[in-house]
Amino acid sequence: MKINKCIINKEIIEFPLDKETSILDTALKFGIDLHYNCRAGFCGRCKVLLKKGQVNMDHSGGISRTEIKDSYILACCSTPLTPIEIEVIN
Ligand code: FES
Repeated sequence: MKINKCIINKEIIEFPLDKETSILDTALKFGIDLHYNCRAGFCGRCKVLLKKGQVNMDHSGGISRTEIKDSYILACCSTPLTPIEIEVIN
C-alpha cells in the first residue's frame, strides 16, 4: 500500500494514499489532528508545507501565490497525485 507522511512536531505519522479524497479528509479519517475551518479553500487554516510529492489543488483564495511558490498547500482542497509528505506549520 502506498502511503503519505505527515510531520507534526517532528513526529512522523503515516496514512494511506487516497487520490480521490482531500488530504484533510483522509488525514482526519485516520486520526491525524490537522487544523481546519471552512473546508472549502477560503480561510487558509489547513495550510501545510508540502515537503515531497505532488498534489492537485483547487482553492478559493485561501493561499497566496508566494505561499504556493514556497510549497505550501491547503489540505482541504488538495488531492495527492503521488505519495506526499506534509509538515504542519501552525
Ligand atoms: S479549511 Fe479553510 S482553506 Fe482549508
